[in-house]
Amino acid sequence: MAASLPSPGTLQLQPLFPLALGLVQVACDPLDIAWQMQAIRELQGGAGSNPDPGCAWTGDLNGVWQLQNHPTFAPLIEVLCGHARAYLQGLGFDPTRVALHIQRCWPVVSEAGQVVGRHHHPNAHLSAIYYLNGDGSGRSGCLRLFPPRQANELVPGLAVGHGGPIRPESAAACQWNAPWFDLAPRAGLLVLFPAGVDHAVLENEDPDDSRFSISLDLVLTAPKAGEGGAPPEYLAPHPGDWQELGG
Ligand SMILES: [Fe+2]
Repeated sequence: MAASLPSPGTLQLQPLFPLALGLVQVACDPLDIAWQMQAIRELQGGAGSNPDPGCAWTGDLNGVWQLQNHPTFAPLIEVLCGHARAYLQGLGFDPTRVALHIQRCWPVVSEAGQVVGRHHHPNAHLSAIYYLNGDGSGRSGCLRLFPPRQANELVPGLAVGHGGPIRPESAAACQWNAPWFDLAPRAGLLVLFPAGVDHAVLENEDPDDSRFSISLDLVLTAPKAGEGGAPPEYLAPHPGDWQELGG
């Protein structure tokens, strides 16, 4: 893409290499959501944290990581994966040359006072989060996304603040040197982003409501052999074409 010409004598800042955050407000029936939250409560089996009491309960660490096979969730997960395919196309992928897989899919429940620490998902390629509840205020705990690299802080570490010379409240700093981006959960909202992006869940500050979400680890491979030619360089062959070694 060619840069636009700046007006004579003025500085123009042009954003380069944007990070693609996918957002979809999925149509959802309140009765379905109530049913799904009840099913998650049953899957929790009375556990309430991970196991540190300050950390939200996450199904992936508690044996609940295949919601896509659960009859209460399978139709929803199929809808979410359709949007994940659209995300790939939005990034320029040729849908005939990649296969998208659910590696795991698990619920997360954050009670009042609980958080999820900063992390990313190196085992996956694309992360998806679907919120079962939330009113858009962020009271139940925002999703905090961290930039992979602060290219515009010039001096490493300046953008996180601590009295540094970047004015965090200025519009310029918000646009060019934001240390993170906070997204408030909302019932039915689906979020998609590259799985290598660090993220965290802020504290649930709502004493009257638990925060329910569903996470997905999605993986890209080549299509199955014979369906799309040889795998492109860097893309793993389809797992159906792998051979497990015996012990
Ligand atoms: Fe995560």
